[in-house]
Amino acid sequence: MELIILAIESSCDETSASVVHNGKILNNIIASQIIHEQYGGVVPELASRAHQQNIVYVVDKALANIHKKDLSAIAFTQGPGLLGALLVGASFAKALALALDIPLIGVNHMQAHILAHFIDEPRPSFPFLCLTVSGGHTQIVKVNDYLDMQIIGQTLDDAVGEAFDKAAKIMGLPYPGGPLIDKYASAGDPMRFSFPHSQIPGLDYSFSGIKTAILYFLRDEVAKDPDFIAKNLNDLSAGIQRSLIEMLLKKLIKASCETGINRIAIAGGVSANSGLRNVLETESKKRKWQLFIPAFEYCTDNAAMIAMAAHYKYLNKDFLSQDKVPLPRMHF
Ligand code: KG4
Ligand code: ZN
Repeated sequence: MELIILAIESSCDETSASVVHNGKILNNIIASQIIHEQYGGVVPELASRAHQQNIVYVVDKALANIHKKDLSAIAFTQGPGLLGALLVGASFAKALALALDIPLIGVNHMQAHILAHFIDEPRPSFPFLCLTVSGGHTQIVKVNDYLDMQIIGQTLDDAVGEAFDKAAKIMGLPYPGGPLIDKYASAGDPMRFSFPHSQIPGLDYSFSGIKTAILYFLRDEVAKDPDFIAKNLNDLSAGIQRSLIEMLLKKLIKASCETGINRIAIAGGVSANSGLRNVLETESKKRKWQLFIPAFEYCTDNAAMIAMAAHYKYLNKDFLSQDKVPLPRMHF
């Protein structure tokens, strides 16, 4: 049987459409929304409007070499995400599934980030641990099977991507600041500045304390020298990045020791961070971990990962009825 699924992602500030054919990604079209740069963060109302403007374009491009009548199902990100943004993708997917009289599939965005590991070789075997690090989430997930996942640790407040972005904002950098901190850090001394780590029991995280520590430290230094940030941008970025990575790594090592699992994967926007990738490569050699890092294009938000998740959901006949709604706080 030919299985061809169109998937739509619209949970935050990327409008994306992708087509998967028998488990192989054919197209992955992404329209990023630059409008948010000037506001220092994603403005939900503007994101919804931009999704409306972009969605027909990305779907048309994703379907360029595919006939709509050959589609087996339409998938969309059901949550978690911004309600208004999710509604654009959900309504579009529902209308198209209804018009073509084919099944509708609702996908969990966080599960999809993890399933991005099944787009290309090497694919991890089960069970494995995935550190999912994005702008809205920080989770350690025990992945038992494609759609059987268990969160064993998570942030109690800010996500690590949020910590990167807020630290960048304090230093006067535009949104999203994570990739900029990565860039400046590569030319900086990571040992010159240190920031306190939070001490949370178990496998959970907290990133709100470090954000406040950065804020107060810079406020005091800028009072003494107004050019302090500009003069030290590389070293500050390297220090902030090192502190955040150390926090991530500590709990990941603990999770691996406690579960006895040494297949380790990373997923989500922050998994594009070169410092995190380097540290994990080194740590993996030391600890004999089998490490899985997705290609850059599948780290940040994209519909290919939604399509991959939809492929496995289709095989389970896990379809959604037309009366189901987007879930901004969707859990696995
Ligand atoms: O997964 P994602 O695209 O969207 C969400 O689902 O949140 O992740 C976006 C987050 C942002 O916080 C962004 O700053 C961060 O990923 N990010 C990075 C890098 N690339 C993206 N953070 C650090 N270093 C990077 N290279
Ligand atoms: Zn995401």
